[in-house]
Amino acid sequence: MTHATNGELPRYLELTPKSRSITQEGKHYLPGADTRSSAYWPPYPIVLERGQGCRIWDVDGTERLDFIVSFTTLVLGHSHPQVVAALQSQATRGATFASPTESQYRLAKLLRQRIPSLELLRFTSSGTEATMNCLRAARAFTGRTKIAKAEGGYHGTHDLASVSVRVDPARAGDPRRPASLPSNAGVPQSVVDEVIVFPYNDTQATCQILEAHARELAAVIVEPVLGSGGMVPAEPAFLAMLRELTQRHGIVLIFDEVMSLRAGFHGAQGHYGVTPDMTALGKVIGGGLPVGAFGGKQDIMELYNPTKGPAIAHSGSFQGNPMTMTAGLVTMELITPQVYQRLEALAHRLREGIRAVCAEFEVPVHVTGLGSLYGIHFTGGPVRSYRDVAAADKALAYQVFLGLLNEGIMMHPNLLGCVSLPMTEAEVDHHVEALRTVLARR
Ligand SMILES: Cc1ncc(COP(=O)(O)O)c(C=O)c1O
Repeated sequence: MTHATNGELPRYLELTPKSRSITQEGKHYLPGADTRSSAYWPPYPIVLERGQGCRIWDVDGTERLDFIVSFTTLVLGHSHPQVVAALQSQATRGATFASPTESQYRLAKLLRQRIPSLELLRFTSSGTEATMNCLRAARAFTGRTKIAKAEGGYHGTHDLASVSVRVDPARAGDPRRPASLPSNAGVPQSVVDEVIVFPYNDTQATCQILEAHARELAAVIVEPVLGSGGMVPAEPAFLAMLRELTQRHGIVLIFDEVMSLRAGFHGAQGHYGVTPDMTALGKVIGGGLPVGAFGGKQDIMELYNPTKGPAIAHSGSFQGNPMTMTAGLVTMELITPQVYQRLEALAHRLREGIRAVCAEFEVPVHVTGLGSLYGIHFTGGPVRSYRDVAAADKALAYQVFLGLLNEGIMMHPNLLGCVSLPMTEAEVDHHVEALRTVLARR
């Protein structure tokens, strides 16, 4: 990326010499010094030393407010004392075994009680594995092979999910009839051919596309909030249409709630009052340790029942490990409906503050989000879909991202973020002030 940054880049370079030298050296061991595409930005990311509550410190000693917390994972912030204590205690009793521990049943019970669609569930070690299993189960259950997903929808990194995630709109064609395009090299055309792509929040066009393929479709997978695609909430009519259509055609409706669990105590499905057949979870439910979960209707999940075969074997060295289960359980117990209300109020204040500051500087902006999630898009138009997100001013976004880092605010490079429990109005207002400073020197 070679955008003009109006002094933000030189300032960033000045603030981050140690991060620069560590990543320079790291290039000898990791390609481009990176091991996680979403945690890279040019010219190099800050290298972190520690986090506490809603604050992080980099190796150069700079303190920042963390408005992305490992891509929305840590609702309680970094190193919450109760999570740390539970992990310390578990670590002394063993980190991982080849038999279950009670903690996996306790976390499964909590999730089943909280998320309406989860009649039965299983754990994985990532959200990627969770969506992969939802799709496999849907194919096994229906005997069909095609799946449908939204353009711009992110469901992890397995092959079926690597279609039409971040694609060049010019190549993807008509926004109302988006082409299925591989998002990564190495995804075979045979896989791309299995994936039907629909335009997020375009109820009429999506309905037509899905109707045309209904008899071939095993599953429709969708994020109730387009997360890394821009924090764009689904419109209720869109989800209602998906529920009705899939039910009518015997297609498994999968909600990917890996991120949108932040939208409400009962997930986004509780918020919208739409119950899918299957749900994928991750991030928050592991309390900061690697995790995923998937589940849904009993008859689908019975495919995994070992006493009945199983029809689908599903193993993984770290599935249900007691460290993750313990951290997840403590975290989920602490995230009460009141916590959700508080986070929602803080995020509302932040979204309003960002809008007001941009209006002051006459910068066209659309601030999206739901619950504790928010996204900043520099565009005058509405933001309802991937194409709307892609049309926003990316050069200004990069300048603002670096500027916010220089002013002590950490977001995702695409200006996506979230609030977490250790934050107060003061931290939110600090974020808004930092944006004012950055826009003033633009
Ligand atoms: C909606 C959604 N699905 C799936 C995933 C993949 O989860 P993981 O990174 O744990 O593999 C993510 C990760 O950001 C996500 O946001």
